[in-house]
Amino acid sequence: MMPYIIARLGVYREQMTHLQPSFSAGFHESVTKLRKVLARNEVVLLTKVEIRDFKVLKSCLDVTLQRALVQALRPILRAAPLFSPDTPYGRRMSVRMTSAGQYGWFSDKAGYRYATHHPSGVAWPDIPAVVLDIWTQATGLERQPDSCLINYYGEGARMALHQDKDEADFSWPVVSVSLGDDGLFRIGNQTRGGKTESIWLSSGDVVVMGGPARLTYHGVDRIRFGSSRLLPKGGRINLTLRVVS
Ligand code: SIN
Ligand code: MN
Repeated sequence: MMPYIIARLGVYREQMTHLQPSFSAGFHESVTKLRKVLARNEVVLLTKVEIRDFKVLKSCLDVTLQRALVQALRPILRAAPLFSPDTPYGRRMSVRMTSAGQYGWFSDKAGYRYATHHPSGVAWPDIPAVVLDIWTQATGLERQPDSCLINYYGEGARMALHQDKDEADFSWPVVSVSLGDDGLFRIGNQTRGGKTESIWLSSGDVVVMGGPARLTYHGVDRIRFGSSRLLPKGGRINLTLRVVS
């Protein structure tokens, strides 16, 4: 274990209030069990929740690591500032973003793709080691990601249901890290439509989308602006680590 990746022992009460009522059967069972434990005021460990093959590692990163991540992102945001991409559908995204690594995700009227440079012309900064370590810990893979998308959700920002499918090989997982305000993460199906399930992602949560979950539709309906004090101006950061080529 890297010293700063801490599967934290803690009272789960806080996250409990963030959970949505629609759960898969297994998840529902563990929540029911958890409610009983909480009613007895016991300290419980709940670090991993699986919904539709998405592995949600709750409270995976402790606050010290969360702060270190924010510090590591500062120089990236200075060199490659956040921008709001246009979508091929003619709408501007409400989420602002930038990237680190060899490839950065990009969108404009011509479509979704990966680019080797920020719109200003600078190459994307390197992915910080502290971020790469999370990938290694979460996936156990030797192969490193070559892209780290940095999404910033300000007040009112959201991300529509979509698949991550601009990469060359879907056998590599995608790892996402949540920092700052809570975000309501919605998980759909491998084709558009159908029933969905939602879970609040909080600062320090890590999600691994691999195997059958790799091409599952997902999105963020809304954030709870101001729910975390990690980011001085509020909002939510999501890091998405991917193998692009
Ligand atoms: C994404 O799917 O690109 C972002 C997911 C998130 O913000 O949690
Ligand atoms: Mn995505």
